[in-house]
Amino acid sequence: MKILVTGSQGQLGRELMLQADKAGVRVEGVDLPDFDLTRPDHIKNAAQRYRPDLLVNAAAYTAVDRAESEETLCMAVNRDGPRHLAQYCREAGIPLVHVSTDFVFDGRKKTPYTESDPPAPLGVYARSKAEGEKAVQDTLDRHLILRTAWLYSVHGQNFVKTMLRLGAERSEISVVADQYGCPTSAADLAAAILAIAGRLAAAENEMWGIYHYCGDGVTTWYGFACEIFEQARRHTQLKVTRVMPIATEDYPTDAARPAYSALDCGKIAARFGIRPPAWQESLAATIARLYSAA
Ligand SMILES: NC(=O)c1ccc[n+]([C@@H]2O[C@H](COP(=O)([O-])OP(=O)(O)OC[C@H]3O[C@@H](n4cnc5c(N)ncnc54)[C@H](OP(=O)(O)O)[C@@H]3O)[C@@H](O)[C@H]2O)c1
Repeated sequence: MKILVTGSQGQLGRELMLQADKAGVRVEGVDLPDFDLTRPDHIKNAAQRYRPDLLVNAAAYTAVDRAESEETLCMAVNRDGPRHLAQYCREAGIPLVHVSTDFVFDGRKKTPYTESDPPAPLGVYARSKAEGEKAVQDTLDRHLILRTAWLYSVHGQNFVKTMLRLGAERSEISVVADQYGCPTSAADLAAAILAIAGRLAAAENEMWGIYHYCGDGVTTWYGFACEIFEQARRHTQLKVTRVMPIATEDYPTDAARPAYSALDCGKIAARFGIRPPAWQESLAATIARLYSAA
């Protein structure tokens, strides 16, 4: 099995590249600036060079707030890019694993979203991801769309790394306490994708489609921040002594976010036997990696 990973320098992409060897999977990665998802010729060239059995799209425009003023670029990457990939996969006769987001939902539900709940995106990024899903569904039968949420890792920029930086600099930090979701380790998601990849060659028709994968358990950004600080104190001293819960309206952002976007992961457990760890457990593993590298 040989996989081509697009977006190989992102949080998820880097974890896929790191873990592939251990999973016994051959992997090649492409990313900006040499590889641009919005360019069908780049997709064709990369695929002809590496001849993958499976394509995993970890590339995306992920600047949720900036997307409100960069709609054209965001749509080109998150809607048109996956469509180009799916078109290539159809021609080449290979499957596509595409990654999407909990933000396709508007957050009005009070119980975890299932794969059959209809998307109702709130902002430009969310709409671009929902339309990217649709483009993949409409273009390629042999696709797997994995929706994930609140992704963090030792790589790049994310909420965990931001909180650790602020916790070292400030004594008081205010964090939004009325948005609920499921923190997800990019390392766990990569492991899940690689486990699934090994089974796709022999996949039966009913295995294709949308799946949810996120850390087990639901919290708020405030709850997430408190857990990050508690766990980090096992490795280092922090300046922060007070974490204050605030409302979404007290932390205005350009893009609206769903108030509740927990994902039900029952389908991936039933079809593939994949059960995400408790989010606190995965957070501990990532924090340990961050401090052992420091
Ligand atoms: N981060 C989250 O909290 C979150 C939550 C739910 C779902 N997701 C989804 O999970 C997936 C992985 O997210 P992530 O956090 O790993 O994202 P990330 O760290 O932002 O990585 C995305 C990668 O894609 C690259 N990229 C952007 N535009 C591209 C283009 N036109 N052509 C090729 N590559 C391009 C980026 O390059 P540059 O850095 O140079 O732009 C980056 O290396 C995405 O589909 C995202 O929508 C993320």
